[in-house]
Amino acid sequence: SAAARDRLRIAIQKSGRLAEPARALLAACGLSWRESRDRLFCYGETLPVDLLLVRDDDIPGLIADGVCDLGVVGRNVLLEQDGDRRGRGHAPAFREWRSLGFGGCRLALAVPDAWQWDGPQQLAGKRIATSYPALLSQWLAEQGVDAQVVLLSGSVEIAPRLGQAEAICDLVSSGATLVANQLKPVQTLIESEAVLAGPVDKFDDVRGELADLLLRRLDGAMRVRN
Ligand code: PRP
Ligand code: ZN
Ligand code: MG
Repeated sequence: SAAARDRLRIAIQKSGRLAEPARALLAACGLSWRESRDRLFCYGETLPVDLLLVRDDDIPGLIADGVCDLGVVGRNVLLEQDGDRRGRGHAPAFREWRSLGFGGCRLALAVPDAWQWDGPQQLAGKRIATSYPALLSQWLAEQGVDAQVVLLSGSVEIAPRLGQAEAICDLVSSGATLVANQLKPVQTLIESEAVLAGPVDKFDDVRGELADLLLRRLDGAMRVRN
């Protein structure tokens, strides 16, 4: 883990669905920043709380490595990477600290519209495209279904039309992407939303007090919203 630091560093998504709401929520906590020229690092002005703008998929690893202290990321990403780490025999290195009430979606299994769905056993021997191999494999094992997981990092919904897979497992928000690809959701694996992620243990230096202050303000800001 990282050396003692006297500033808190929070990783948020650089661009994408969580980027703006994450920043707005932190601003509602009274934080403000001076942006650097490359705009990937924002120096905290009102409090010693800096932002690092990154790919969301990098956020759990940045916390695990102690490069960042906290992060705003989808629960789906956090659980997938935690599952992957466990599968490789690593100890947990991050956890959900707070759910943040935005970025709601679900990780769902979807099959072609034409299928008549009659349960998980229908997937036996089939190929399922996903960006969430750990969560999908875990679910398949729980169901006792032997299917092949096809790993794609994006545009998963097009895989059945391309003949790469028979089914998919991906995030569903409005459902428009599934509809556009003649797929239908048949099973939810995980309900997800944006969460504040942090290390498993509390900080044992001044970052602990900063984190406590931030959490109090976060809880206050969330109460005002709901
Ligand atoms: C996400 C997700 C689905 C889509 C679901 O992709 O992977 O493809 O959104 O949203 P919908 O149900 O509202 O259509 P995103 O657009 O974030 O791009 P990515 O897959 O490249 O991450
Ligand atoms: Zn991503
Ligand atoms: Mg997508």
